[in-house]
Amino acid sequence: MAHEPGFAKGLSIGIIMDGNGRWAKKRGLPRTAGHKKGAEVFRDIIKYCNELEIASVTFYAFSTENWSRPLEEVNGIMKLFGEYLIMAYDYEKENNRVVFMGDRTALSPKYQAQMNDIEEKTKNNTGTVLNVAVNYGGRQEIVRGMQILAQRVKEGTLEPEQITTEMVSDVMYTAGQKDPDFILRPSGEHRLSNFMLWQASYAEFVDMDVLWPDFTRGDLDRAIEEYNTRSRRFGGI
Ligand code: FPP
Repeated sequence: MAHEPGFAKGLSIGIIMDGNGRWAKKRGLPRTAGHKKGAEVFRDIIKYCNELEIASVTFYAFSTENWSRPLEEVNGIMKLFGEYLIMAYDYEKENNRVVFMGDRTALSPKYQAQMNDIEEKTKNNTGTVLNVAVNYGGRQEIVRGMQILAQRVKEGTLEPEQITTEMVSDVMYTAGQKDPDFILRPSGEHRLSNFMLWQASYAEFVDMDVLWPDFTRGDLDRAIEEYNTRSRRFGGI
């Protein structure tokens, strides 16, 4: 289907990359093979978001709950994350500002250093903001934000009644960014799974019956078309 130029420009999108395991199982492959293909799709969809001039895209790469998976699978995902993190140095050329969401202190010191370095090197980039959620949980993000604000109250620089929704937004990992317009979940599931709980307040939910490793640029087009048919009222009429 042909699109108007700029049909997706300025949108903010959250993506729950789901279905890697099922994709692999269907092919009789180990689950890590699904994650590998998923990581390739992740790279291509970033490039496509840049072409579409998307304002920000957030990928759910690893949740705080994913540690309960078999060690081999966790290590496989972390290894891929490392490979795609090193490739992340391309993101400078691609003009993304990269932000990592989640508790990175649980990751290896090497990864932490690379993540800090990428954020620092890309912080003035003006293209699509690329948020990557690793060891991320929406509730944990809110708790962390509450702790930051509570600390200010304790230090006497903030009164509890001065706390506003904007202030809470600014202690989320996505500080200063627009909230997601829609959250996309492939693989036919209909859950948020602890993803962007604060930011998703008025987001549309778009679910698609395609496994993430099979996800294409055309699927993203279709998700945007679906979002564009929705009438958003933000509680009004
Ligand atoms: C969900 O599918 C996917 C994950 C838990 C991991 C996503 C990781 C990647 C795409 C690769 C590494 C990350 C980056 C950023 C390069 P699932 O395993 O829950 O699938 P299932 O529901 O079919 O079992």
